[in-house]
Amino acid sequence: MLVASDVSKWVKDGQRRREVLRGVSLEVSAGEFVVIVGPSGSGKTTLLGVLGGMLLPSSGEVRLEGEAVSRLRDEHRAEVRRRKVGYLFQDLALIPGMTVLENVALPLLPDGVTGAAAEARCLAALARLGVEGRAGDRVDGLSGGERQRVALARALVGSPSLLLLDEPTAHLDAERAASLLEALGSFAQEGKALVVASHDPRVIEAPQVHRRLRLADGALQPR
Ligand SMILES: Nc1ncnc2c1ncn2[C@@H]1O[C@H](COP(=O)(O)OP(=O)(O)OP(=O)(O)O)[C@@H](O)[C@H]1O
Ligand SMILES: [Mg+2]
Repeated sequence: MLVASDVSKWVKDGQRRREVLRGVSLEVSAGEFVVIVGPSGSGKTTLLGVLGGMLLPSSGEVRLEGEAVSRLRDEHRAEVRRRKVGYLFQDLALIPGMTVLENVALPLLPDGVTGAAAEARCLAALARLGVEGRAGDRVDGLSGGERQRVALARALVGSPSLLLLDEPTAHLDAERAASLLEALGSFAQEGKALVVASHDPRVIEAPQVHRRLRLADGALQPR
């Protein structure tokens, strides 16, 4: 499903260049739920970005369902990413001023799915996360936990085969975190591959998780 081979990523740090990821290799199968742990600044968000084709690796390769996303030109890469990857941003990246439904429907627009068809898919995604009751409300008025679940619904709505989730429980109370983990477990059972970056013990220790990896000094190792 997802294969990263010897991925390195350099970033500019003022005048200098710094290697955030060094020689990271990772294979994730369909139906597998993998958690990446690591201290703040260890490169978790950067790794998710590279795995999903949002960022290009400085060297190495990322293949998604056999397709070398890291080698595709920007436009084609965006297309593959849109079809295959659901991404939950650490800062959620909801569009203020728009309703929950409008936010969740965004990934469907490029495929021309609008109106009642879009609404039905959005409501189904929202319902899986227990926030369908807020569909008509502006995202601005939601609680942190509601916003988080709406952002996750937007990641799900296009039925991606790979979910990349950056700190998905950051704004959730204990009960909501537990039900989110159950939902994530069921996505894995349905055959989606999940890679979740988290330093939340509730996620790391969750029984639904199949594999735990640690990112330290830019390298990935079993936890
Ligand atoms: N575009 C960029 N330009 C400069 N530095 C960057 C860039 N992207 C990431 N970095 C640096 O790379 C390091 C890893 O960042 P990253 O956001 O991936 O860490 P993280 O593990 O997700 O941290 P956190 O747990 O706080 O979210 C940080 O030191 C960050 O400053
Ligand atoms: Mg991060």
